[in-house]
This record gives sequence, structure tokens and C-alpha cells, in this order.
Amino acid sequence: MTSPVEGFSKFTKPEKIAWLAHNYTAHPEETKKLLERYWNSDAQLQQLHDEFIENTITNYYLPLGIAPNFLINDKLHAIPMAIEESSVVAAASKAAKFWLSRGGFKAKVLSTEKIGQVHFMFRGNSEKLRSFFDTIRPILIKDTASITKNMEKRGGGITQITLRDCTNDLPDYYQLHCSFETLDAMGANFINSCLEQFANTLKRESQQYAPFTETEKAIEVVMSILSNYVPNCLVRAEVSCPVDQLTLSNTVAPQVFAEKMVRAVQIAKVAPYRAVTHNKGIMNGIDAVVLATGNDFRAVEAGVHAYAAKDGQYSSLTHAKVEAGVFSFWIELPLALGTVGGLTKLHPLVKLALEILGKPSAKELMQLVAVAGLAQNFAAVSSLVTTGIQEGHMKMHLMNILNQLGANTEEKKQLTTYFKTNTVTHSAVVAAFEQLKNKE
Ligand code: MEV
Repeated sequence: MTSPVEGFSKFTKPEKIAWLAHNYTAHPEETKKLLERYWNSDAQLQQLHDEFIENTITNYYLPLGIAPNFLINDKLHAIPMAIEESSVVAAASKAAKFWLSRGGFKAKVLSTEKIGQVHFMFRGNSEKLRSFFDTIRPILIKDTASITKNMEKRGGGITQITLRDCTNDLPDYYQLHCSFETLDAMGANFINSCLEQFANTLKRESQQYAPFTETEKAIEVVMSILSNYVPNCLVRAEVSCPVDQLTLSNTVAPQVFAEKMVRAVQIAKVAPYRAVTHNKGIMNGIDAVVLATGNDFRAVEAGVHAYAAKDGQYSSLTHAKVEAGVFSFWIELPLALGTVGGLTKLHPLVKLALEILGKPSAKELMQLVAVAGLAQNFAAVSSLVTTGIQEGHMKMHLMNILNQLGANTEEKKQLTTYFKTNTVTHSAVVAAFEQLKNKE
């Protein structure tokens, strides 16, 4: 058994690797070589990545792909996507091309409110706390002036602070529930700095507030942190076309296809088991663009899924209808994104992704990301209600299987051609590969 390590973060990179390889892997020399193969030969670039986190030992690659032909609000975009799942970029590209000749995607931002909270315990008279809060509200704002100055110059800042009595949920529990406008920044640092200042002001002022008893003066701040639930930072994206233009499948008539799409969405609205997978398909598109643009996909994931359950049951993020012969398909979801700050100026590929997207504002990025999610869902559900998902999925997965089998370039070429007209399953690929090998 390995013993605990002291001062690991102070080890040099080779020392960390040696320690890891010897203690946790069967073939230390191979481990070292593998990790080194992923180092960048440009030492400066490697150092940049080393310094993003603590204890970096190597880089972890994800493919960065491009889904072209996205017509969004009458402007053509090529969307960068960082993702490992074989079929995602292909599906996005297919949906983009389909809608390109049908008016494209329309997207708009509905709201941009970010939220943060100071969670605290107050043991005393809640009416007195309310009067205290009314007295200190301007002081809370004044004390954050140095933090908010630049954001305010650009038109953002703190938009609201309210006192919330949560004692019905937890005895003595209150919140300062605060709203922010953070413009092109995701705003986590800005919001957290404001909140920590609010907490200090709250404690300091309570100790000097004469009407409070000694117990009331001892406000206990538990924590100050932004919320990744942003139900009022919403974006909507949609596509629509006359039903008879839904000529997506050779085997399913447009009218039938439209009905099947609407029914599939209805199912995802009422059946949580289906809704989770339906929304997972949406997140295939969302996360890939969020990651490519250096945004925090965990924050987005948490906020989006909470939103999907906002009415008390987890439900579909997309909606579909047929009205007066027109099929409409749309998504509405919260996205707290930034195009300044964070990794946006640091990570060379993030910078490039933002350049490819036309250096978008945060609002424009919200629209692009929502469109990627909608396109992904359209592609997945349209396959599900027609051919089934495996046909396209396995075609894209074919290369992974061939790589697992160790196929060379020529074998890959021959087998890809063979599987253009044959069904891809794992066993069928193994069989075809073995047959080819035997022939060789
Ligand atoms: C696979 O990554 C995503 C799908 O399962 C989404 C869906 O079922 O709608 C195909």
C-alpha cells in the first residue's frame, strides 16, 4: 500500500510524475513516456497550461471540431465544438445544413440577471433585522464602490439586494439575495467579491446597531457565494418552417415526421426518464461550445438542469408545435456565459474559438450556444423518430472501433467503404476486420 505524500504540490513536475508512476501504475517507465508524449514542444505554451491548475502532469486532449453552415439571425457562423463523442459535431452540422435553406435559426436573449447570496444566521427579532437592513442598504452599496467602479462605468453592477427570511426552511436562516448585471463577464469573481464585502459590512454594522441586543449583534455569516441557478439569465432559440418542407427522411412523410417530433417532445415533457436523456442530447451541443469558448460547463450544467426541474418535475428544455401548417421547434434555457475574463484571453484555442465566432458579446454567445443545443436536439430526436439513433451513431463510432482493433490506414479505408452499405455493430466490424486480415 502506498503511504500518504507530504508537500506534493511543491514537487517538480518530473518528481510528481515519478512518484505517481511508481506508486500507482504497473509500468512506471511507460507511464512517464505516455505523459511526456502529451507535453507540448512549445515550452511557453506548456507552462501556460501547467499553470492553469495545481499538480499538472500533462495535457488531456479533446478534439476541437467545427460545425459549419449555422445561419443565426441571418448571419452565417461556423461553430467550434470541443467534445469526445463521435457523432455530436456531425449531427450539429447536419441540423445546421437542414435549417440553412429553411430560414435558419432565430435567437434572442430574454434576460441577463446573475444571482449571489450571503447566507447568514440571525437569532432575534426579524422585524428589527428588516429595519437594520433598510438602514445599511446604502452602506452595503457604498462599501463595494471600489469593486463595482469599472463594471458600473460599462453599465453593469449590483442591481438589487433583498433580505430574505428563510426561517420557515431552517431556524434563524436569512439571506441577502443579490442581483447583478455583469455584461460580457460571466461574473463569478466580481459577484463573489461583492458578496464577501456585503458579509463584512453586515457583520460590522450589526455590531454597531444600537437597537440590537447582544445576541442579535452576533450575526453569523455562514457563506457568501454566487448561485449557478440563473433562471432570469435566459436565452431563446428557435427554428420553424412549413410542415411540407420537413423533407428530412426518405421514409417518413413531412406531416408524419412533424407529428412524431411533437410527440417525442411531449414525451420528454412528461416523462423524467426520457427528459434526462433528451436534455443530455441538448447538453452535447451546449457543453461542446461552452468548453471551446473557455466557459464553465459545470456551472452551465448545474443551472440548466435546475431550470429543467423548475416546475417541480424534471422536464424537456425544448418545445415543439405544429400550428397553421407551420412546424416550430424552440429552446429556452438559462446560460451564464462570459466572453471576457477567465480563460478567454489566456487559452490560445479559446481566443481562436471566440475569433471564429466573430468575437461575440456574452449575449451573442448565449444565442450561439442555445442554437447549438437546439440543433443537437433536433438532430438526435429526428434520428430517434425515424431511423433510430444507432445507424448514424455507429457510423461515426466505426473509426473508434477500427482504432481499438489497430487497423492501419488502408484497412480503415476499405472497411469504411464496406460499412457505407452495411450495418455497423461492434461484432460486425470485428468480423469484417478479421476477414480482411485473413485475406491480407
Ligand atoms: C447521445 O449522446 C444523446 C441522445 O441519447 C439524445 C437523445 O436521446 O435525445 C441520442
